[in-house]
Amino acid sequence: MTRKAYSRDQRLRQASALDKGTFMTDNDGLALATRGLRKSYGSHVALAGLDLSVPRGKIYGFLGPNGAGKTTTMRLLTGLIHPDAGSIELLGRPFGRRDRHRLYDVGALIESPSFYPFLSGRQNLREVATNGAAVTRGRVEELLELTGLIDRARDKVSTYSLGMKQRLGIAAALLSDPTLLLLDEPANGLDPAGIVAMRETLRHLAAIGKTVLVSSHLLAEVQQMADVVGIIAAGRLVREGPMQELLNAEGIVRVRVGLDEVAGAAVALAPLAGAAAVTSSAAEPGWLSVRLAPDRTGEVNRILAGAGIWATGLETGNDLEMLFLELTGGAPVAGGEGTFFGMAGSRAAE
Ligand SMILES: Nc1ncnc2c1ncn2[C@@H]1O[C@H](COP(=O)(O)OP(=O)(O)OP(=O)(O)O)[C@@H](O)[C@H]1O
Ligand SMILES: [Mg+2]
Repeated sequence: MTRKAYSRDQRLRQASALDKGTFMTDNDGLALATRGLRKSYGSHVALAGLDLSVPRGKIYGFLGPNGAGKTTTMRLLTGLIHPDAGSIELLGRPFGRRDRHRLYDVGALIESPSFYPFLSGRQNLREVATNGAAVTRGRVEELLELTGLIDRARDKVSTYSLGMKQRLGIAAALLSDPTLLLLDEPANGLDPAGIVAMRETLRHLAAIGKTVLVSSHLLAEVQQMADVVGIIAAGRLVREGPMQELLNAEGIVRVRVGLDEVAGAAVALAPLAGAAAVTSSAAEPGWLSVRLAPDRTGEVNRILAGAGIWATGLETGNDLEMLFLELTGGAPVAGGEGTFFGMAGSRAAE
């Protein structure tokens, strides 16, 4: 993990934690850490030694193909199930079997939340409120407003749409104003306006120092929203770090030149990132791909112009999506159908 990148942050967080007299451990600066977390369902290994490091005050995008172990992780983090091995540290303290009472500082939305269908949205929130730390009526109203449910707050939850139930789930997770928020695919069923509103809410929470761990399959959304990303496949972490660092390390710039200029362009661009980083595909004649940070796109253009080659097309790909596919073994085969529907399961428990 990129501890170095977090070091300044860690010092800041450490200072503020010390102010509050918080118990400190090796994982200072982390709101959440798992070490060697293992969980099997029968003989099926869902988590094969997961090490997550979620810095405080950040939005952490938790990504992985279907079956990679995201929901299992969230369930372990909230004590719904228990690990076979490994450790969890929540908000600077070990979280064990008997520590569920400490979760008042943690808000969670895991899979489809269950509400009483015969009660209204407002009544359900009040019901959740009575089970946790003290929550005022005003807070319930505030969250109904924030999640756009206020006009339907008196209606029974059984009459809610999928997205409305999801909004209520997000409201319930936020109810106790938690320091750490665990959201498992919160965008599920939300309409575009709902997704934008949720993104703004989460950004606001991070801005005031809360930590958000959010799993999602909407890579473009995560790319816009998350500060840090962790990508898991088959129950293991395959990459973790600040979003911008990962994208810069894995970016791709695509450029189109004349068909008779492809070879010349490849030679000219080779010094930029190494010959192996420049590829062309028979499926897209004239297009070259250069593994390069997107902010260096201008250099591609300049070098080609210097070689007397005029680019007729220049673009950067959806970087997080490419990184995700590459790391999780689902990269589309050039010119082929791709293996997008290949799941982590086939590579699990290696
Ligand atoms: N209750 C269960 N019993 C048996 N196997 C389970 C159970 N829950 C999860 N699994 C298995 O554990 C693995 C991880 O599942 P998990 O739900 O954590 O994946 P996920 O990353 O959340 O996937 P998705 O993106 O589809 O939500 C999968 O192979 C799944 O089949
Ligand atoms: Mg899941």
